[in-house]
Amino acid sequence: MLNTKEKLNEIIQLGYEITTVQDLDILLEHILSKARAFTGADAGSVYVVEDGKLKFLCNQNDTLQKKLPAGRKLIYSTFTVPINNDTIAGYVANNGELVNISDAYNIPERAPYRFGKQYDEISHYKTTSMLAVPLKSNRGEVVGVLQLINAKNEKGEIVSFSKEDEPFIVYFANNAAVAIERARMTRALLLRMISMAELRDPRETGAHVNRVAAYAVEIYESWARKNGVGEEQINQNRDVLRMAAMLHDVGKVAISDIILKKPARLNDDEYEIMKQHTFLGARLFAEKFSMFDEAAYIVALNHHERWDGMGYPGHINPITGTVIPGYEGKNGKPRGKRGEEIPPFGRVVAIADVYDALVSRRTYKEAWSEDRVLQTMRAEAGKHFDPEMLEAFFDSLEVIKSIGSRYPEIE
Ligand code: C2E
Ligand code: SIN
Ligand code: SIN
Ligand code: SIN
Ligand code: FE
Ligand code: FE
Repeated sequence: MLNTKEKLNEIIQLGYEITTVQDLDILLEHILSKARAFTGADAGSVYVVEDGKLKFLCNQNDTLQKKLPAGRKLIYSTFTVPINNDTIAGYVANNGELVNISDAYNIPERAPYRFGKQYDEISHYKTTSMLAVPLKSNRGEVVGVLQLINAKNEKGEIVSFSKEDEPFIVYFANNAAVAIERARMTRALLLRMISMAELRDPRETGAHVNRVAAYAVEIYESWARKNGVGEEQINQNRDVLRMAAMLHDVGKVAISDIILKKPARLNDDEYEIMKQHTFLGARLFAEKFSMFDEAAYIVALNHHERWDGMGYPGHINPITGTVIPGYEGKNGKPRGKRGEEIPPFGRVVAIADVYDALVSRRTYKEAWSEDRVLQTMRAEAGKHFDPEMLEAFFDSLEVIKSIGSRYPEIE
């Protein structure tokens, strides 16, 4: 057990650590795992206020997780809860007050809130103790709710959340709220930048870029684990990749509407122009000020390369648009990058992008059936795609499908 001074140091450190995370999804996961570790909670969720409702966006559960095969992730669906006293999360958001209860199934009659059993029923998990904390920004606005479930003691028995932890968790929740506000602004800024490039292409929406980015992160994580990349490196890379992958097609901003919106297959000349979206996108990030610029540059430039060397734009200088000396291919054009010449972020976004393009409708094609998509993907091992990365894709398929339903086409 930590003493009070140690707890103070610990919570200040945790509050600092979350300020280094920039992407919203990754941030929510960090907030939850750190708060759970601090309080010894077996499970927990984060809700974020969206359009006047609470949106369930992040869920962790050690007990359910341990029942899964190693490396598998817990699948859950998102839902919304009204901000009123019908549920504990709703009450906490409604009143801006913390709730600490020892038994969710024995809430005193006089308590102003109710426990919603439905979620336990869906997830086959029994909630007993619960600490639900408002995520309150510095302006006092509730941006979400952090819900911690089933504190465990050293023997693994479920106990109440300690009263002494409350001020620490309130402090942490405040840091978390500020970080969430900032991450939401970053996400909104990225989406605005993308809409400048792609609103003209009505089928390629914010939902598409969110899906591609979320898939890419899952595939990357699964691949990186198998390849012995360190946990800290993985976490940092997930964060920059999540944002960079959203911008994979931002170079389409420079492609004419006539080509971008063509409701039919492109002819060869049109396709040649379309291919420029790769290095034109990279140009936007050529002055690499941060890890994020670096990652966005790599993703834009490399997401259409192919493992077999038949992709584009190949070994090109994005600034000049000319071949890198020594890498001339046929007819003086740059030779395609092949195999590990293609950076991992390029290889992973290639898989995420093609998968999403195939399962979705586009102005120029219908959505394909799942069978057809998966067969096509598999047949591209060692051709379009890095075979190991493709393995990681298939390993993550259940999570990937659940992300698809989290960002539906019509929002
Ligand atoms: P996108 O729609 O996001 O597609 C990304 C990649 O998914 C494509 O890269 C391709 O590798 C794969 N893909 C998409 N649809 C199909 C399909 O029906 N069959 C197969 N086997 N693969 C598919 P690609 O081909 O380099 O295209 C890059 C971008 O160029 C596309 O992004 C899209 O914006 C545009 N584009 C490509 N072909 C056409 C077309 O025929 N008509 C129009 N209007 N746009 C096209
Ligand atoms: C992630 O947070 O790792 C991706 C999940 C998502 O964005 O849905
Ligand atoms: C293509 O048709 O553009 C390539 C599809 C793939 O390699 O998966
Ligand atoms: C997430 O919500 O962060 C992951 C997406 C899902 O599994 O539904
Ligand atoms: Fe692209
Ligand atoms: Fe795309």
